[in-house]
Amino acid sequence: MSEEHFKNLISHAKEYGFVFPSSEIYDGLAAVYDYGQNGVELKKNIREYWWKSMVQLHENIVGIDASIFMAPKVWKASGHIDGFSDPMIDNKDSKKRYRADVLVEDYQEKYRVKNQKEVDKARKRFGDDFDETQFVATNPNIARNNAKIEEIDVKLKDGLENDLDKVKALIEELGIACPVSGSKNWTDVRQFNLMYSTQMSATDGESQIYLRPETAQGIFVNYLNVQKTGRMKLPFGIAQTGKAFRNEIVARQFIMRMKEFEQMEMQFFVKPGTEMEWYAYWKEQRLKWHTNLGTNPAKYRYHDHVKMAHYANAAVDIEYDFPFGFKEVEGIHSRTDFDLKQHEEHTGKKLQYFDNESNESYVPYVVETSIGLDRMFLVLMSNALEEEDLGEGKTRTLLRLPAALAPYQCAILPLMKKDGLPEMARKIMKDLSLDFNCFYEEKDAIGKRYRRQDAIGTPICITIDHDSLEDESVTIRYRDSMEQKRVKVSELESIITQEVSMKELLKGLA
Ligand code: GAP
Repeated sequence: MSEEHFKNLISHAKEYGFVFPSSEIYDGLAAVYDYGQNGVELKKNIREYWWKSMVQLHENIVGIDASIFMAPKVWKASGHIDGFSDPMIDNKDSKKRYRADVLVEDYQEKYRVKNQKEVDKARKRFGDDFDETQFVATNPNIARNNAKIEEIDVKLKDGLENDLDKVKALIEELGIACPVSGSKNWTDVRQFNLMYSTQMSATDGESQIYLRPETAQGIFVNYLNVQKTGRMKLPFGIAQTGKAFRNEIVARQFIMRMKEFEQMEMQFFVKPGTEMEWYAYWKEQRLKWHTNLGTNPAKYRYHDHVKMAHYANAAVDIEYDFPFGFKEVEGIHSRTDFDLKQHEEHTGKKLQYFDNESNESYVPYVVETSIGLDRMFLVLMSNALEEEDLGEGKTRTLLRLPAALAPYQCAILPLMKKDGLPEMARKIMKDLSLDFNCFYEEKDAIGKRYRRQDAIGTPICITIDHDSLEDESVTIRYRDSMEQKRVKVSELESIITQEVSMKELLKGLA
């Protein structure tokens, strides 16, 4: 998949009511997006698939819905006030702010592009005999470019870890210019916190308050409430979906990196010493959740973290091969007892578990699974969008979304707008709407209507024609195969259920 495919995806998402730039009539707002009439359905279905797989299929996982606003001290305890920041640099002429590490990484990208050009040139020259692996391993230009990339990596890492002045020096040494002004007139590199803050009224006692940058802390602070009121026994989990906010400066990848986004997180509380077992369990389970959607497993990979965050003793990303390369969709982190202990320390309240079997109290360890709903939306859209060649110069655009997650499960299409066909179609619509989200349309030729449903991913179209009035049968047409068959109206519910129900999807996990 290419940049071209990604551009098509963004315009398809807009044209067919999936994703719009926020406040578009005011020229939009950087890195903020709105979900349209079809996007909101797809997003809701992904959320439901996640929720049911976590809460409904695990008797020891329950859900909560914590507030976006939390006591500000939560973020001191969690380490976000002191440590949740990115290294930023401003250009004095354009007044534009950039992430310093990304400026350097973009510079390195130029060498990668040069390497790719060498490969493309050689492929053209050698044709079918071309051995890319051998060429990359032996070509001197590629070796030189890779050495340069590596040298910059080492300097950048040293600067980020030890001294931000070294990052500025590196930017100057590489001659990196501001993409807007073209000038090299930079400020020093400074850490900027990613949390948004706002004010609460003074009478509430707290003035500065934050918009949560992750949903997880809402779970940690409710650990004891849920454990006690739900009489939960270890191991058990608390799941939550909800908005999170981060002042991301780099925002060029559509809904991949946004300032306001939605997370689906689950904290699994376990007995200390058993966390690696559970970490392995969730690592496997979560990848299964992804591939159960029918996505090619080769498009997924694990990326184990070598360097751990201060609170973790193991961490892995599940990455997906987006049109712009492999990127993180989900993280699984073994967070030890860091968060609960921090909250104990900052509140003076005990957040422990009394273990009846061993007759001791301890702070549980936590294994976290954390996935971005918007990123998952992008995974599904980029995997599903296809320009299918139908032969004889004809193509069709379709979204091969997993049937249970499609915005509409079926479309009901009377062949003509007369002779009692709409009335019969409406009656079918009324019955099926109790189980499925159905789309109704009478306008335009049937072929055109099929194409419109293909483009929004509707797995089944039901066409009512004149024979239907006589024999109580209709034609169903499948999105992926375009196969059509005649079925009785009385069979519709069970046929559609078999094809598109969430239950069928969940069976793959149970
Ligand atoms: N509680 C752990 C946590 O928040 P994270 O790796 O910072 O970990 C988890 O975020 C997931 O949230 C990521 O894997 C990604 O899918 C999503 N995510 C993070 N920042 C995002 C952003 N700015 N826009 C969209 N999704 C984001």
